[in-house]
Amino acid sequence: MMKRITALVIAGLTAAALTGCGSSGSEGGGGGGDDAIVMGFSQVGAESGWRTANTKSVQSAAEKSKITLRFSDAQQKQENQIKAIRSFVQQKVDIIAFSPVVESGWDTVLKEAQNAKIPVILTDRAVDSKDTTLYKTFLGSDFVEEGKKAGQWLVEEYKDAKDTVNIVELQGTTGSAPANDRKAGFAEVIGADPKFKIVASQTGDFTRAKGKEVMEAFLKSTPDIDVLYAHNDDMGLGAIEAIEGAGKVPGKDIKIITVDAVKDGMQALADGKINFIVECSPLLGPQLMDLAQKVLKGENIPARVVTEETTFDQEQAKAALPTREY
Ligand code: AHR
Repeated sequence: MMKRITALVIAGLTAAALTGCGSSGSEGGGGGGDDAIVMGFSQVGAESGWRTANTKSVQSAAEKSKITLRFSDAQQKQENQIKAIRSFVQQKVDIIAFSPVVESGWDTVLKEAQNAKIPVILTDRAVDSKDTTLYKTFLGSDFVEEGKKAGQWLVEEYKDAKDTVNIVELQGTTGSAPANDRKAGFAEVIGADPKFKIVASQTGDFTRAKGKEVMEAFLKSTPDIDVLYAHNDDMGLGAIEAIEGAGKVPGKDIKIITVDAVKDGMQALADGKINFIVECSPLLGPQLMDLAQKVLKGENIPARVVTEETTFDQEQAKAALPTREY
């Protein structure tokens, strides 16, 4: 008996070590023993305020829906996500959801989940797999549209300008869907007018620290920066520190556009340090749990569920801040 308990404990510890995962909610379902649904969830990491809000949303929605969540933090590394998904397959969870850190390189592990008859839902970010049967649906924002909204604001803001507008861009994680798409959407809109010039563009990995570091380098290497386009608030907030450190006034000497609209970003917008924010909602948890339940009941669900989002200027940020959820 003792031997069996020891073996079970070792098996449990090995699974936890493999995925770096913790559970929330009660045990059960495919990985447990009663009827509760067990969802294996592989999160990108904790790189930004957006990500923290997204994790909270997923965890609290799972609890409300009585879905047992096996949560794994990949620390922005694809290899950790692949390990986590393999571990979820071994644990025979009922369903897997994940937010892929980058777009490419998922076919093999998704095929393994499919062969084990475990449905997969993509949340927040997409994969570029040609075989769309490898996942049931993709729930998340339209990142190209977000980039376009950023570009449209810029075009309107500088509609009377005759001179060149020098733009620096802080990209998100290299190879990630939001970095690829926000860049493409923005470039498409501003590309219609040759006065807009992206004079430097580099990844800041969606983090505040890297945003600051890269902006410091931009300020040293690139004279006459008119505009900063940062693919998320956190990088924009880091860049603000760099701009202030260089004796310039963010929001005035350098206009700033970011994406997300988390509280810290909205505060900087209300304070006049950011000029425009395109919203990207992290509150995906309730829709994710609803879709998971439908998939497991065999109900039809749409292949793509797009999150509803808006944009904020400085006055709109002041009005929205008191009731902002994240
Ligand atoms: O995938 C969503 C993006 O990931 C958010 O815009 C960014 O803040 C996060 O790190």
